[in-house]
Amino acid sequence: AVLGEARGPLAGRHVLVTSGPTHEPIDPVRYIANRSSGRQGHAIAASLARLGARVTLVSGPVALPDPPGVSTVHVETGREMLGAVEAALPADAAVFVAAVADWRTQDDAAHKIKKTGDAPPALRLVENPDILRTVGTGPRRPALVVGFAAETRDLLENAAAKLARKGADLIVANDVSGEVMGGEANTVHLVSRSGVEAWPTLSKTEVAERLALDIARRLGPSGG
Ligand code: CTP
Ligand code: CA
Repeated sequence: AVLGEARGPLAGRHVLVTSGPTHEPIDPVRYIANRSSGRQGHAIAASLARLGARVTLVSGPVALPDPPGVSTVHVETGREMLGAVEAALPADAAVFVAAVADWRTQDDAAHKIKKTGDAPPALRLVENPDILRTVGTGPRRPALVVGFAAETRDLLENAAAKLARKGADLIVANDVSGEVMGGEANTVHLVSRSGVEAWPTLSKTEVAERLALDIARRLGPSGG
């Protein structure tokens, strides 16, 4: 092998990962966001790189360093994230970990919205593009498409519905009714068309390691 060439079960593979929240502007100083820290997505990107993959990480605003050995693209909004994801294709696998804001404001104000003494402003929301569904059902679909499902109830039913609706091969179902978002531990189930696999409670790093190995196994040996 050439000196410096990546080794490991994912050598020769390109894997795309989304991570973090998105910020959807309301006006120049305010935005809509969520509690995602990006820790799980960033850990997955790092684990995939350690297994030899060329990794493109598309990250929303997070307080984390770029993972070593990973090509990181920084975005703010869901629409920017979709654009960066499409620009990074083709990929052998894609892992959608980002907590994309489901809604953005229809028009963000050019100037800071001021209190007027009247009623509070009404925010008119529109739905953001579904990045996983766009890629999972699109013409440049990677061979392996993995999503996450953050649920506070009916975890496995909702995850199975997302698997089908979004064209994913695998959904990592995550119960976020506790302190998962921003916390360290994760209890996940792997939902695929062949069934449900329950994982023990693991750290986000351990979930990342295990998922990266699972992705390597599902992709099999690289042809190129
Ligand atoms: N996802 C995405 N783009 C969106 C919304 C979600 O790529 N606009 C991806 C997430 O990265 C995750 C999966 O879809 O891999 C499921 O996200 P989730 O928020 O659980 O599902 P939603 O389809 O948004 O449904 P809801 O929030 O209403 O449960
Ligand atoms: Ca959502």
